[in-house]
Amino acid sequence: MKALSFQLWLLILNYLQPSQEHSIKSFESTGALQLNSYPYCPNPNHALGLAPHTDSLFLTILHQTNNTKGLQILKKDQGWTSIAPVSNDALIVNVSDLLHILSNGEFPSVYHRVLVDQTKHRVSGLFFGPQVDSMIVPLVSSEDNVGVVPKYRNVKVKEYLDLKAKHLEKVFSMIRF
Ligand SMILES: *[C@@H]1O[C@H](CO)[C@@H](O)[C@H](O)[C@H]1NC(C)=O
Ligand SMILES: *[C@@H]1O[C@H](CO)[C@@H](O)[C@H](O)[C@H]1NC(C)=O
Repeated sequence: MKALSFQLWLLILNYLQPSQEHSIKSFESTGALQLNSYPYCPNPNHALGLAPHTDSLFLTILHQTNNTKGLQILKKDQGWTSIAPVSNDALIVNVSDLLHILSNGEFPSVYHRVLVDQTKHRVSGLFFGPQVDSMIVPLVSSEDNVGVVPKYRNVKVKEYLDLKAKHLEKVFSMIRF
């Protein structure tokens, strides 16, 4: 999982800022394996596994166990949309807040929630992000982006996580120019 996250990370950064390969290679990041357990629920219409939110770090890599759906993402035109597990071996990769900021909004973080299943227990989750003392700087200076201004101010990961803990989804408007 560590190798996979790092590979995805290099691909994304090379796309965002191809001219700065050096800083990319030396970038320090960490993964956290967090397994969320969603027990089956006899009344799934009366409960949520996890309330609507965006994840805070760079990438969320998800393995939906037990061939059980549960993840829903909010799509502009279709509202809440269920993401079915593709197969027991497939992973779902979604964008989280710090990549949203780093990409200057080009890769929006995914607003999602989790439903519970009537009969099946489900486990999911891996989060990949930078060390807490890193500074997140919107990348706007590559040649393709001449004339694009940063939408967000620079923010330390730790400061961002503290703000998010207090203000939840309002945090984006607090660091927007
Ligand atoms: C999030 O993951 C779902 C399932 O693979 C996919 O349909 C959606 O496009 C992804 N969105 C982003 C922004 O990564
Ligand atoms: C799959 O669901 C069944 C029924 O709830 C449960 O007993 C089992 O532990 C689950 N397995 C996994 C890997 O979540």
